[in-house]
Amino acid sequence: MNQCISIFYITVIVFVTEYTNALENGLVRTPPMGWLSWERFRCNTDCKNDPDNCISERLFQVMADLLITEGYAAAGYEYVNVDDCWLEKHRSPSGQLIADRSRFPSGMRALSDYIHSKGLKFGIYEDYGNYTCAGYPGIIGHQYEDARLFADWKVDYVKLDGCYAFPHEMEKGYSEFQDILNKTGRPMVFSCSWPVYQIYAGIRPNYTSIKENCNLWRNYDDVQDSWVSVESIIDYYGNNQDLIAPNSGPGHWNDPDMDLYENVDYGILYPSTKIKVKVNPSGVVMLKAEVYVDAKYPNSYKYVFSL
Ligand SMILES: *[C@@H]1O[C@H](CO)[C@@H](O)[C@H](O)[C@H]1NC(C)=O
Ligand SMILES: *[C@@H]1O[C@H](CO)[C@@H](O)[C@H](O)[C@H]1NC(C)=O
Ligand SMILES: *[C@@H]1O[C@H](CO)[C@@H](O)[C@H](O)[C@H]1NC(C)=O
Repeated sequence: MNQCISIFYITVIVFVTEYTNALENGLVRTPPMGWLSWERFRCNTDCKNDPDNCISERLFQVMADLLITEGYAAAGYEYVNVDDCWLEKHRSPSGQLIADRSRFPSGMRALSDYIHSKGLKFGIYEDYGNYTCAGYPGIIGHQYEDARLFADWKVDYVKLDGCYAFPHEMEKGYSEFQDILNKTGRPMVFSCSWPVYQIYAGIRPNYTSIKENCNLWRNYDDVQDSWVSVESIIDYYGNNQDLIAPNSGPGHWNDPDMDLYENVDYGILYPSTKIKVKVNPSGVVMLKAEVYVDAKYPNSYKYVFSL
C-alpha cells in the first residue's frame, strides 16, 4: 500500500514538472547574449573628465559599433544593455522617467533607434523599489507609465533590479510588472533580480513562480573583476545545481551574471585557460545560462570562440 502511494506520488511529480507553465512571450529561446555596461563602467557619470568611460549615449553607440566590427554580432551577441545610472535623479513634474539630459542628450528613443539601425537589440535597467541601487528613481508607484515608456522607446529587454524594495513583496511585485509589460503589447525580455534578494533575506525563492514570470533571473552575487569572484559564482551554481538547473529552458534561464573576457585593465586576464574551460562556452551548457560580455573593448571573441 505504501509502495503504491509512493509510486502515485512520483507519477504526479513527474507530471507536474513536465507541464509546469513557464513565461511564454516568444523571446529568448536560447540564452540571451549581448553586452552590458555595469561590470566595467559601473556608475561613472563624470563625462567631463572621463568622456570615453562615462555612462552616456556615446558609450552605448561605440559598443554597438564594436559588437558589429569586432564580429561579436555575427557570433550571436545581439543585445546592447544600459545598466544603472542612466537617469536624472528626479522624475519630470508629470512623473515620467527622464534620461540624464547631459549624458543622453538625444534621449533613449534615439539611442534605441541607433542600436536597432545596427540590427541589434536595446536593453534598459530599472529597479523594483523606491530607488535603483545607485539611487535613481525606481518604478514603484509608476509601473504602468514606466512600462509604457519602455515600449514607446522600443526597448527589447528590461532588467529589473531589487534595491530599496522588500524581498517578501517581490514575488507579487515582479509578477505584476511582468503582466504590465505584457499588456504594453511589446515583447520585452524580462530579467528579474528577485531570487537573489530573497536568498540574501533568508527567503526560499519560489522558482515555479519565477519561471512563470521571468525570462531570466539572477540567483547569486554580481560578478566582480577577479578570478575569486568568477570562481565563487561557478561554485554557487555547482553546489546548488539540484535547485537551480531544473528551472532553466527555452524562454526562461538562470543568470549567473556577466562573463568577463580579457578584462586586461582590471586584471582578469591571468587564468584565461580556466575561464575558457569553465565559463566560455562550455559554461553555457553547464549552467544553461545567459552570456553577457563586459570588457572595455569587446575584442577577443575569436580567441574565446575558437574552442
Ligand atoms: C518606499 O517608500 C514608501 C513611501 O515612502 C515607504 O512606505 C516604503 O517603506 C519604502 N520602501 C522601502 C523598501 O524602503
Ligand atoms: C503576453 O502573454 C501571452 C500569454 O502568455 C503571450 O501569448 C503573449 O505573447 C504575451 N505578449 C507579450 C507582448 O509579451
Ligand atoms: C509557488 O508558485 C506557484 C505558481 O505561482 C504556486 O502555485 C505555488 O503555490 C507557490 N508555492 C509556494 C510554496 O508558495
